[in-house]
Amino acid sequence: PRVVAVIPAAGVGSRMQADRPKQYLTLNGKTILEHTIDALLAHPQIDDVVVAISPGDAYFDSHKLRDKPIRVVEGGKERADSVLNGIMMLSENDWALVHDAARPCVEDTDITSLIALMGNKDVAGGILATPVRDTMKRVASSGNVISHTEDRDGLWHALTPQFFPAKLLKAALLDGLARGANITDEASAMELAGYKVALVNASPANIKITHPADLPLAEFYLKQKFS
Ligand code: C5P
Repeated sequence: PRVVAVIPAAGVGSRMQADRPKQYLTLNGKTILEHTIDALLAHPQIDDVVVAISPGDAYFDSHKLRDKPIRVVEGGKERADSVLNGIMMLSENDWALVHDAARPCVEDTDITSLIALMGNKDVAGGILATPVRDTMKRVASSGNVISHTEDRDGLWHALTPQFFPAKLLKAALLDGLARGANITDEASAMELAGYKVALVNASPANIKITHPADLPLAEFYLKQKFS
């Protein structure tokens, strides 16, 4: 089957407090989105790349990203809506490799390990993940006083890419959204639909750029990757 990368890139990135959506900030001379697109285009097992862009996004054209061998769709209200719009471009038997625009530091070898799950009949697909390293506290949603400490053992950060047969993922996302579930990644929709999802222990350098402090760190990881 063909592997098609779907990049949700229609967020505004309000936590970054920048003058533009975070995917258009520049790291080592290239926008974050261009780094991410190039990383996926360069992987030998990825056949096609679809990018979901916000309808009013003027930066995409001004950065000449349309010249790249990619397909572009409109993003939606939430991340899951943007992913779904991307998945609609895939064929019946394609596998979708969904990857956040905000994760430019993803490593080739981790993508390869994830795609290898295609041959694993025990799971429907999988995601890159990294074990939680800090002690985790639960706080009541309204306050800042600790209610209790979560058991860190067995807790993982869900990263992207997340990799599933397009047909199953599309149905799971549609179903999850219809049920009003809070779907913050593809795996959560697949879990809700009752599928088994594998974790691939991946490099923690694959950060999601969220806060200003992440920018120099990502520049450092990108330099390391290409050195
Ligand atoms: O906001 P967050 O960092 O969780 O977003 C993860 C990814 O999803 C980002 O690459 C962002 O551009 C994308 N996104 C999207 N459509 C939305 C919201 C977020 O494509 N409506």
